[in-house]
Amino acid sequence: KKRIGILTSGGDTPGMNAGIRSVVMAADAAGFSVMGITKGYAGLIEGRVDRIKTEDVAGIVEKGGTILKTARCEEFKTQEGQQKALQVIKAFDISGVVVIGGDGSFQGAKVLSHLGVPTIGIPGTIDNDLAYTDFTIGFDTAVNGVVGEMSRIRDTMNSHERVGVIEVMGNKCGDIALYAGIAGGAEHIIIPEVEFDIDYICDKIIGNRIKGNMTSIVLIAEGAGKGEAVANYMRAKAKLDAKAIVLGYIQRGGTPSAADRLRATSMGMRAVQLLEKGIGNRVVGIRDNKIIDEDIDEALSKELIFRKDLYDEFKIMSENMQ
Ligand code: F6P
Repeated sequence: KKRIGILTSGGDTPGMNAGIRSVVMAADAAGFSVMGITKGYAGLIEGRVDRIKTEDVAGIVEKGGTILKTARCEEFKTQEGQQKALQVIKAFDISGVVVIGGDGSFQGAKVLSHLGVPTIGIPGTIDNDLAYTDFTIGFDTAVNGVVGEMSRIRDTMNSHERVGVIEVMGNKCGDIALYAGIAGGAEHIIIPEVEFDIDYICDKIIGNRIKGNMTSIVLIAEGAGKGEAVANYMRAKAKLDAKAIVLGYIQRGGTPSAADRLRATSMGMRAVQLLEKGIGNRVVGIRDNKIIDEDIDEALSKELIFRKDLYDEFKIMSENMQ
């Protein structure tokens, strides 16, 4: 029986488990056996490889995190580390690998493919920072999580007439802040894709206060700066009672949304179909609601498209908020 390996790498995301489950099920249906590699490329180098069967993935579709554990691995960037990994792949007789992770993880998938092990990447990151796909697995859940926290925080900000400056993740990408800002009705967002004027934001907040609207939520993407710095500035320069809240890992864990589970499932299936044909060096994604696959180099060379249309919609709402 042909064997395929699967690993998760980089930051964990909700929906990785749905992807693992899909790969295991699809592989089983195709007559492959699946080897689960624990803790990403680091685990691969260490030989942490074990058979993973359909019964092992029962009930995991609804679980956040990754049952295979994950890591960011420096050693795999070295030739020595790559050779060790190749030895392990050979020793376990693995003929193809599925990697669920972000761009760093895809660099690894490329290396494995070039070493002769067909490898397919599935985009798993809450940041939505991969240009070739409209959505990455975990992003939808993260946005939903942030929206939920925003409404909880708003209760306290309302009650105390404070300004809540909520810092969200996203690495260099502002998508979590942009999407959650629209869905959660933030008064202002600060994202790395757009220059911002903190004095303008302060003036708007003060203007709204004069009109009687005492509540404001400002979402700041971590790639644009620190929530604490913004809140400090607002307190010092505008005498606003501003509080910084860093959401951190709260937005990375938890039950995956239905959208993330669905996307992960379809992407897992496509990954196995490619490996069945012996095809590697590709990444799977979703574009215009269709599952696609693309050459890794091509996918990674694309420039991230900022959803300016969404930002413009946000601006209209932000500027007219009373
Ligand atoms: O890439 C996912 C992400 O959560 C980013 O949003 C964030 O900048 C980073 O990972 C945090 O990394 P770590 O897991 O090392 O804390």
